[in-house]
Amino acid sequence: MIDSLQTRFGIPGSVAVSPGKNNMPRVTLSHRSGASAEVYLHGAHVTSWRNAKGEELLFLSRESHWAADKPIRGGVPICFPQFSNHGPMLLHGFARISEWTLTHTECRDSGEVVVALQFSDSNATQALWPHRFTFELRVTLAETSLTMATLVKNNGDKPFDFELALHTYFGVGEIQRAAVCGLKGVTFSDSLRNNINEVETRQEIRFDQETDRIYIKTPDSILLRDEARNRVIAIQKSGMADAVVWNPWIAKSQRMPDFGDDEYLRMVCVETGNMAGHVNLAPSAQWLGSTILSVRPA
Ligand code: BG6
Repeated sequence: MIDSLQTRFGIPGSVAVSPGKNNMPRVTLSHRSGASAEVYLHGAHVTSWRNAKGEELLFLSRESHWAADKPIRGGVPICFPQFSNHGPMLLHGFARISEWTLTHTECRDSGEVVVALQFSDSNATQALWPHRFTFELRVTLAETSLTMATLVKNNGDKPFDFELALHTYFGVGEIQRAAVCGLKGVTFSDSLRNNINEVETRQEIRFDQETDRIYIKTPDSILLRDEARNRVIAIQKSGMADAVVWNPWIAKSQRMPDFGDDEYLRMVCVETGNMAGHVNLAPSAQWLGSTILSVRPA
């Protein structure tokens, strides 16, 4: 299967389909600048994004599972159609443990490399969530940016509600020297304190304890400053209302079997999507959201 995908979708120098961890199909995007990205068909999961110098910008746990029935720990899990434990489904919904189909690859004249993957309802998804849908993820790699565009279509004859998150795990040099900026004045729901709603007062969110908050209806621009690595990642979302800031800190890291005890020191999740309210999609309607990550020196 991997060989036939490579024959059909491979673009010399730009896109390659090859066996990844545990022989799971992996698509590698290579930009002429030297930047690269990797996407697994399992979950349409972006597991790596490197800048032109080859430096990894995402976090991927050394303890991650690499199995058909388990999510990958790190990179960019897609949470859909449910976020967290907000409904009866398994945590974060089924998209991240489903096999997606590679549908399109392209290298544009501008040099951008594009890969699209699709996921549609099946008997298995219908049993969990009785709706007909198509979800497309389009990943575009440029010299200093990675764009993830999400398109959800309602193919059924009744409306449905969904939540969605691009649950991005960023790699940071040192968590105590990382800051998330751009959320001052935004109301958040604190998952660690019975979802109490408060307003963020800090210009810079810094980390010295477990943090798990849904920031509701945030500005579209959020910054992650990584002082240890001297770089800034700009997170620019559109169509996505909310953002989650998460770091498991010490005790939760120890409780998670697929996460190293000390790995909380080198990651932070800044997730974009619709986690505080559902998107309602009428029959035949479609919803588009996107998040552009771009990196620059501090
Ligand atoms: C975050 C949630 O988005 O994902 C956290 O806010 C959760 O509460 C975390 O712990 C990781 O979830 P999971 O299912 O990948 O362990």
